[in-house]
Amino acid sequence: MTGSSASPGSSRNDDVSIVACPDGPLLVRGEVPIVTPTGEPVPRRRKTVALCRCGASTIKPYCDGTHKLINFRTEPDLPDSPQSAGSEASQTPQG
Ligand code: FES
Repeated sequence: MTGSSASPGSSRNDDVSIVACPDGPLLVRGEVPIVTPTGEPVPRRRKTVALCRCGASTIKPYCDGTHKLINFRTEPDLPDSPQSAGSEASQTPQG
């Protein structure tokens, strides 16, 4: 038998999506339980939440925007890309 069929309880997952934001968090939309490593539920106030993937948030597991301050990048600079060539010399601190 090939193909797949939805089970009666699977329809609620149709409204779930996880979007990996470039240089940012994971946006989780839908009714997905978020739990601690020990299985405790993490309070959730919104249907869409942003999960930190930079590791610097002060409100983990949620994103607090710190990824912007630390210049978090999800894609490494390619060694032969025009942007990365000489980019160290052109970087200036922001503040
Ligand atoms: S991804 Fe936003 S603070 Fe970590």
